[in-house]
Amino acid sequence: MARTPVIAGNWKMNLDHLEAIQLVRQLVYHLVADVFDAAELVGVPPFTALRSLQSLIEGDRLRLALGAQTCSEHDAGAYTGEVSPVMLAALRVRYVICGHSERRTLFGETDEVVNRKVAAALRAGMTPILCVGESGEQRDAGVADAVVTRQVRAGLAGVAPEQVAQLVVAYEPIWAIGTGRTATPDDADAMCGVVRATVADVAGTDAADAVRVQYGGSVKPGNIRELMSRPHVDGALVGGASLDAEDFAVICRFSRR
Ligand code: PGA
Repeated sequence: MARTPVIAGNWKMNLDHLEAIQLVRQLVYHLVADVFDAAELVGVPPFTALRSLQSLIEGDRLRLALGAQTCSEHDAGAYTGEVSPVMLAALRVRYVICGHSERRTLFGETDEVVNRKVAAALRAGMTPILCVGESGEQRDAGVADAVVTRQVRAGLAGVAPEQVAQLVVAYEPIWAIGTGRTATPDDADAMCGVVRATVADVAGTDAADAVRVQYGGSVKPGNIRELMSRPHVDGALVGGASLDAEDFAVICRFSRR
């Protein structure tokens, strides 16, 4: 089955709303129309830039989808500081990153919390990007497959197979995030294959054929083409390199010579 690649730029806690507008304008300037047919492109700014970017994207009819970096597991209520998935959907946010390793390690998000966020995003009609990935110690101990399998199973618990088919899983080895150390294309492909096999186990082969599996971790203009040439890699979740319009445009143009 032909899966449309999805390339997402996770800006993390960088860029205020004016800088975010500037980056999107520069990015669009560097891209040409056919890029938008070859892949789905997603910008994932901090919450404070979502409204400005929604206006820009809709006003100029840009074919860039909006994503959020996380969301509350609750729809509304006394949860000071949280942002509801319903509010994000009202800004036409299409994707929500759930369980990024920085959320897991710095903010104590467990597999159970991540699972509830996946459910909350789906409930609001958005597409979760479920992040999974092993630490360096886990890889050295030979348990990378087991860790990723557990995270995928837990993250997707209770999600209907038809919904699993629609979502995105990002395999992001923690040792590769922000380190400049990328998984080899073969390792990335093998681990994205582990993700797909686990999806087949929990939701069936149709869902596994349809689910898009991204690789993330020091994706750069210089390694995107080789990563994307592997059968199980359906896109990239890009951190640092997505903050540079030219670099991110090169990554988005991976399919062009
Ligand atoms: P990086 O981040 O591209 O800077 O390694 C990836 C991520 O955290 O999603």
